[in-house]
Amino acid sequence: MHFIETLHGLKTKIPPIWIMRQAGRYMPDYRMVRKTESDFIEFCLNPEKASIVTCQPIEKFHMDAAIIFSDILLVPHMLGQKVTFIKDIGPKLTPLDIGEKLLEPDWTDYKFHLENVGHAIDLTQKKLNNLSVGKNLPIIGFSGSPWTLFTYLTEGGSSKEFINARKFLWSDTKNAEAVFDILTSAIIHFLDIQIKAGVSAVMLFDSWAGAIPSRFRDKFIYQPTQKIVNYIKKTYQGLPIICLPKSIGEGILEFSDKVQPDCIAVDHLTDIKFVNKYLPKEIAIQGNIDPICLVTGGDVLKREVDYLLNLVTDRPYIFNLGHGILPETPEQHVADLISYVRGK
Ligand code: CP3
Repeated sequence: MHFIETLHGLKTKIPPIWIMRQAGRYMPDYRMVRKTESDFIEFCLNPEKASIVTCQPIEKFHMDAAIIFSDILLVPHMLGQKVTFIKDIGPKLTPLDIGEKLLEPDWTDYKFHLENVGHAIDLTQKKLNNLSVGKNLPIIGFSGSPWTLFTYLTEGGSSKEFINARKFLWSDTKNAEAVFDILTSAIIHFLDIQIKAGVSAVMLFDSWAGAIPSRFRDKFIYQPTQKIVNYIKKTYQGLPIICLPKSIGEGILEFSDKVQPDCIAVDHLTDIKFVNKYLPKEIAIQGNIDPICLVTGGDVLKREVDYLLNLVTDRPYIFNLGHGILPETPEQHVADLISYVRGK
């Protein structure tokens, strides 16, 4: 209830709730559909399958918003850095090396392939409208932020220390700027497709914001993110934007001051008390249960829910985890969380 209104500034006694990565491996229903396609990118680009798994958590747990099933790595894939997913390891990409240029794609071709995500959104809305719990439910569209996508491009996958990405910034700054310009345009095109297909809000995942050297935050996080947010605000007036600048530390205040999203998603490593105190009160907050706390469940989880509900009372607030739900999470804990937040 009231998900979009909350992003627009409404304060509610019971916050709207959804869960990052709510369609995923913790659900046996998801795993069943996932099994039918070996290639993860193909799975994301299959509108029928993507729409089925988007609706699964809504049918089962009745969240207040759906998030379209796709992946942030569709963007580098469509930019020509082929992405494959290796079981128990994660994503692998053709890496972009220092000194190497990222070629601008043929944007018509790029958009043509990603249009499948638009079709998935369209199908999802139809499927949701046929569910008693899904009628007119908002769908969230999303993309990775330029810096997070840049880390996957330059590391060739997930990373712990982000050595290649950081080396690239320091030693080939001009080339990095050109890569960021292409990424920024690619993200805007990806969001355009999703918004035109009918999403009611968008979220930018900057999952590795905490890994950028702070001296580069302005150039490679605030400025490109601001460009994307300004474009959306200008082109689609009133369409709310959620940003997750994960683990950016004290930079969260400058981030929101410069980028001006409607909502800041707070990760579980960031002190939500600090954010709630210093962030202007008109900006909504989303978060920030530790995904491991949801795996733990029981009274421990209830205590954390109480903590958050008693803390974030004087601003628009959306209940969520601090990062994506983990595959080992028992489904019952998700049901427990939602009913506890709603006071049922
Ligand atoms: O939230 C949702 O339900 C929508 C779906 C969604 C997925 N990925 C599906 C997915 C969303 C919002 C994402 C975003 C995403 N993808 C992020 C940003 C959020 C975050 O967690 O920080 C990132 C960094 C990625 C990149 C990515 N995709 C990685 C590193 C991996 C492999 C690691 C892992 O968790 O296994 C993926 C794969 C992926 N994306 C899965 C799902 C459900 C699991 C793969 C599978 O089902 O085989």
